[in-house]
Amino acid sequence: MELRELTAADAAATAAIEADVFAGETPWSRDVFLVEFAHPYTFYVGAFDDGELVGYAGLAKLGPADDPEFEVHTIAVARGHQRRGIGRVLMDQLVHAADMHDGQMFLEVRTDNTAALALYVSYGFIEIGVRKGYYQPTGADAYTMMRASLSERAEREHVDGSDAAQEGRGA
Ligand SMILES: CC(C)(COP(=O)(O)OP(=O)(O)OC[C@H]1O[C@@H](n2cnc3c(N)ncnc32)[C@H](O)[C@@H]1OP(=O)(O)O)[C@@H](O)C(=O)NCCC(=O)NCCS
Repeated sequence: MELRELTAADAAATAAIEADVFAGETPWSRDVFLVEFAHPYTFYVGAFDDGELVGYAGLAKLGPADDPEFEVHTIAVARGHQRRGIGRVLMDQLVHAADMHDGQMFLEVRTDNTAALALYVSYGFIEIGVRKGYYQPTGADAYTMMRASLSERAEREHVDGSDAAQEGRGA
């Protein structure tokens, strides 16, 4: 499997996967992906198997340049290629990009999307709210999830480590 940044030439293949995996949820068209890929503040990565696009993920960098935050715009793996670790490889790219800038990450996910929720939780995302009827036309609810920045996670580990050490000394 190969990874590379997606370009306008990949927009049709991306939209084809999107139409299948997000059928019934207003899947993004080729034109939407063309706009997404062209934004200076987005990063889209694709996974290719023998030259065929099998998954993609997109991240937007928002906020001040010296203190950015990141939003996962999408992640999807073609139906016949799911559960082979491709989603994790793509997610690795997104979290790496955010950690390079020490930024928090945010995303929305359907509250009933068990697969995506398990993936996000495994990267340290936590639920911070519910957006009622976020997805149209289904009216499905979304969780907003957040992943702490690298320095926030390091600070937490430091504090937790200190607590654990103190508990250890007191026992
Ligand atoms: C979510 C998605 C991208 C995961 O991609 P994938 O390549 O199948 O995932 P991986 O094989 O890399 O698995 C990574 C982790 O995701 C979770 N996961 C993936 N599929 C799962 C399933 N069917 N049930 C439960 N957990 C699942 C697990 O935590 C898994 O880790 P594990 O293998 O150690 O248990 C894929 O299911 C998908 O494209 N779904 C449709 C589109 C979508 O819902 N995107 C998210 C929108 S918010």
